Amino acid sequence: MSVTEIDQEVAAGGRLRLSGRSAARCLGRLVTGVRSLLTVPVLAGSASVALLGVALLLAPWEWRDRVLFGAVLAFVSVPVIARITSAFYGLLLVVGDSKRQLAERVEDLSRTRSGAVDAHDSDLRRIERDLHDGTQAQLVSLAMRLGLAERVLEKDPKAAQALLGKAREGAEEAMTELRAVLRTMYPPILADRGLDGALSAVAARSAVPVRLDVRLPDRPPLPAPAETAVYFVVIEALTNVTKHSAAKSATVTVRCEGERLRAEVRDEGRGGVDESKGSGIRGMRQRVEAVDGTLCVNSPSGGPTCVAVDIPCGS
Ligand SMILES: Nc1ncnc2c1ncn2[C@@H]1O[C@H](COP(=O)(O)OP(=O)(O)OP(=O)(O)O)[C@@H](O)[C@H]1O
Ligand SMILES: [Mg+2]
Repeated sequence: MSVTEIDQEVAAGGRLRLSGRSAARCLGRLVTGVRSLLTVPVLAGSASVALLGVALLLAPWEWRDRVLFGAVLAFVSVPVIARITSAFYGLLLVVGDSKRQLAERVEDLSRTRSGAVDAHDSDLRRIERDLHDGTQAQLVSLAMRLGLAERVLEKDPKAAQALLGKAREGAEEAMTELRAVLRTMYPPILADRGLDGALSAVAARSAVPVRLDVRLPDRPPLPAPAETAVYFVVIEALTNVTKHSAAKSATVTVRCEGERLRAEVRDEGRGGVDESKGSGIRGMRQRVEAVDGTLCVNSPSGGPTCVAVDIPCGS
C-alpha cells in the first residue's frame, strides 16, 4: 500500500488496515527519509536540502509522496538550517569580535609602547640635563680651582691651599650630585629595602608630612617594573604636593588587591591640577601605561587632589 492509498482510505473514512509488507515499506521509507532529512542538512546545511529537493523531484514517486516528503523535509530542515546558520553567524561574530579585540590591543600596545619610548626619551633628556647642569658644572669649577691653585702654588702656597680645599669640597658635592642622578636612573633602594622600605625613605625625605599606609604580601614578590612605576609616581606626586598644593600633609596608600597593585597619593590642598602646565603628570601617566596600568588624577578646584595608580602585577 502506497502513501496515496493510505491517504485515500483515510479520506474515505475507512479503517486503516496495513499489510505487514506495506507497513514495513512505509516504515522503511519513513526511517530513510527522516535519516536523510536529519543528517544531510546537519552536514551541509541548505545546499544539501536543495539537493535533496531536486532528488525528490527526480525520484520516481507519486506526487503525493513527494509533497509529503517535501513537507517533512521543510519541517525538519528549517530549524536545523536556522541552527546551522545561527551557529555559523555566531562563529563569524566571535571571530569578528576577537579580531576587533586584537586590533584594539595592538592599538593599545602601540600607544603604550610609544608612550614608553617617549618616557624613556624624556628620562634620557632629564639625565643629560641633570648631568649637564649639575655634575658637569661642578667639575668645570673644580678644574678651574685646581688650575688656579697650580698657578699660584709657588708664589702663594697659602692661597693655593685654600683653593685646593675648595676643590675637594667641590669634588665631594659633585659625587653627591652624581649619586642623586644615578638614583633616579635605577632605584637601588627598591632592591635593598623593597617598595615598602623605599617609600618609607621617600616619605621621611618629604618636606610635607606624609602618612604612609602600605600593605603588601611578602610573597610572591611584586614585578620590579610595577614596583618601580609606583615608586616614581609617589615621588613625583609628593613633589607636586610640596610644590603646588599648599597642603599641610599628604597620605600615601599602597595595596596589592588580587593581581593589581594600587597606589594613591592624596592631599587636602588647593586642587585644580592642570596637566598642560608641566611634564610631571604626563611622565607619570606614560610610565604607568608602559607597564599596562592606568593613572587617574582627580583634583577639583579647591581640592582635594588624588593621584591613583592601578597596575597589573600578576604572573
Ligand atoms: N597636588 C597638587 N595640588 C595642586 N595643584 C597641582 C598638584 N599637582 C600638580 N598640580 C598642578 O598641575 C600642574 C601640572 O603638574 P606637573 O607635575 O605635570 O607639572 P609641574 O609640577 O608644574 O612641573 P614638572 O614638569 O617639573 O613636574 C602643576 O603646574 C600645578 O599647577
Ligand atoms: Mg610635577
